[in-house]
Amino acid sequence: MSGPGEVAPPGVNINVPHSARIYDYWLGGKDNFAVDRGVGEAMLQAIPNLRYMAGENRKFVHRVARDLVQKEGITQFLDIGTGIPTRPNLHEVAQTIEPTARVVYVDNDPIVLVHARALMLSSPEGRSEYISADLRDPASIMGDRALQDTLDLNKPVGLTLIAILMLLADEDDPWTKVAAIRDALPSGSCLAITHPTADFNPAEVDAAVAAATGAGMTLVARSQEAVGRFFGDWELLEPGLVPVSSWRPDDPDVDPKAAYYWSGVARKP
Ligand SMILES: C[S@@+](CC[C@H](N)C(=O)[O-])C[C@H]1O[C@@H](n2cnc3c(N)ncnc32)[C@H](O)[C@@H]1O
Repeated sequence: MSGPGEVAPPGVNINVPHSARIYDYWLGGKDNFAVDRGVGEAMLQAIPNLRYMAGENRKFVHRVARDLVQKEGITQFLDIGTGIPTRPNLHEVAQTIEPTARVVYVDNDPIVLVHARALMLSSPEGRSEYISADLRDPASIMGDRALQDTLDLNKPVGLTLIAILMLLADEDDPWTKVAAIRDALPSGSCLAITHPTADFNPAEVDAAVAAATGAGMTLVARSQEAVGRFFGDWELLEPGLVPVSSWRPDDPDVDPKAAYYWSGVARKP
């Protein structure tokens, strides 16, 4: 239920919790409503480290953007499940290194659309676009005019699926949807994924999943094997499919198992 004095932006339902807004709440943002804070708090009760985990997930995005530009020579990105803008956004990290970098953001939540303009504040030399579309319909993303105008699909693309795949049920066959996007990208493209898992702390994660699903959300924690299948036959870059904090960490003393996400980056042969 909405809280006192809360007004919904057009198209935004503030009577049901939404993942983008719960995540915004954990990260200290202001684009969340009573219903989101309620579920967000229940999940925090289950996993006291959740805010830390969200921060580790964002740091992974920054390290991946940096390395894909610097080490893989990638200058164009497709980020699906963007979320409410959190600075620095992907294009800001990439354009700091390569000002001509181009990014297409995709999300299906109307609250993210409200912020699309902020996501599109590109460097003058580069470009940033926003598409309102759903990962469960990959053709609607790859066929979008803005994507085709922004990305050159004959050159490698960095596809980022960061903390989104857990929001797709097994019945939606997210593996086939991701494969459809992988297939549309050329050799040398890279795919980066983070995905929550119960592999490190089943009791806490099961309780958090129960809090979310009890509020009507879809949330699926997946095993390392199930997450690994999203990469298909692409080759995992070093250090492989690892806890999110241990993927090329800036801080070598970070606790690898304190953030319950698998993460990895793979390159298309
Ligand atoms: C937890 S947020 C992650 C935000 C960002 N990727 C990050 O990790 O900082 C998940 C985002 O995925 C979006 N999302 C969920 N299901 C989606 C779908 N089927 N298609 C497109 N976006 C989706 C949500 O609206 C939300 O903004």
